[in-house]
Amino acid sequence: MPFYQRLGEVPRKRHIQFRENGTLLTEEVMGLEGFTGNESILYHLSSPCRVMKLDGFNEIKRDEWVPDQHAHRHFKTADVKPEGDEISGRRLLMWNNDVEISLCRPAKQMDYFFRNGEGDEVIFVHEGTGTLQTTFGDVPYKEGDYIVVPRGTTYRFDPVGAQRYLVFETPGLIEIPRRYRNQYGQLVEGAPYYNRDIHPPTELRTVREQGEFAVKVRVRGGYQTYLVDYHPFDVVGWDGYLYPWTFSVHDFEPITGRIHQPPPSHQTFAGQNFVICSFCPRKLDFDPEAVPIPYHHSNLQSEEMIYYVSGNFGSRKGVEVGSITLHPSGLPHGPQPGLAEKSIGLHETHELAVMCDTFNPLKLSKFAKGLDDGVYWRSWYDSSAADAPDDGDASGAGLTSHL
Ligand SMILES: [Fe+2]
Repeated sequence: MPFYQRLGEVPRKRHIQFRENGTLLTEEVMGLEGFTGNESILYHLSSPCRVMKLDGFNEIKRDEWVPDQHAHRHFKTADVKPEGDEISGRRLLMWNNDVEISLCRPAKQMDYFFRNGEGDEVIFVHEGTGTLQTTFGDVPYKEGDYIVVPRGTTYRFDPVGAQRYLVFETPGLIEIPRRYRNQYGQLVEGAPYYNRDIHPPTELRTVREQGEFAVKVRVRGGYQTYLVDYHPFDVVGWDGYLYPWTFSVHDFEPITGRIHQPPPSHQTFAGQNFVICSFCPRKLDFDPEAVPIPYHHSNLQSEEMIYYVSGNFGSRKGVEVGSITLHPSGLPHGPQPGLAEKSIGLHETHELAVMCDTFNPLKLSKFAKGLDDGVYWRSWYDSSAADAPDDGDASGAGLTSHL
């Protein structure tokens, strides 16, 4: 994150003695790009290298589904049953070498600590509140938050209520789009959000506890569990530019225009060969001749997945909260028959959706296969298909305005 934060106690300068009750604390530099990128410096009560026991390594196995036919797809995730915890309950939907997209409805709270040692994470909180407890301090979260967790952050969830997440994991970095930042990192006028909308850890609670603690680390395509004899949240202070943070989708300020604004106007994060966009309630295009919903388009180098968060999708009978549409490369897509005409004169949309466009093809999982409605592909052809437009709604409230 391109702005400086400090929590707890840190010494006057970097790399000088820092003691607590006479004991020299352990300074840890967590940084990117070989000591030239963003970094944070943490001061631990114990050495973070101190491992009591190596526990098991479990390789990540992906159950790929290779469909017999290439087509647009619609996956319904609303009724997926809770399973596992906030980490083990991540159920992979689609992936490529740049990003893995999972749905998570945990059935229980994790009883270990987790660290992603090979990727950044964005956890979109669809349902639930709670606190992501981390080595950098507490990160409270609520419905609609994107929790951005840089690699190397040790954390665990302290959830309140039922939870539902859409999780993105990437070997690349999650960044704020370059065009939103000036050369010093401040978010510019015209960006759809501001530094004030970004919420770093709020409170550092140093835990002084000895015992036996399991830390599961995602590394080398699997999960390695380490047992340590000190509580991992033993940091007395840290400062720097690298830390977990949240941004609420409800704080995204939509950019609208007289005629249609393209999807990059909704961009929220930049990844390595993918983007994450937020489609938020907003006024629609206001030119009297405008067609407020998008043109058909062929994103010739992209695959587009959209996760429907809230709103009334009444004009697309098959799409509901928790639905995911996937428009893969090689095929054009656009509004269903009749929708362009129907959209004329509409002034606003109340839908909320999260989109991920990847620049390389996505593979699908067998879990996704089980959620595929199998008929979405013909909704442009057959008005009786599940997703055909409904003539009854002219309010715009149910207009799927971003396809
Ligand atoms: Fe699209």
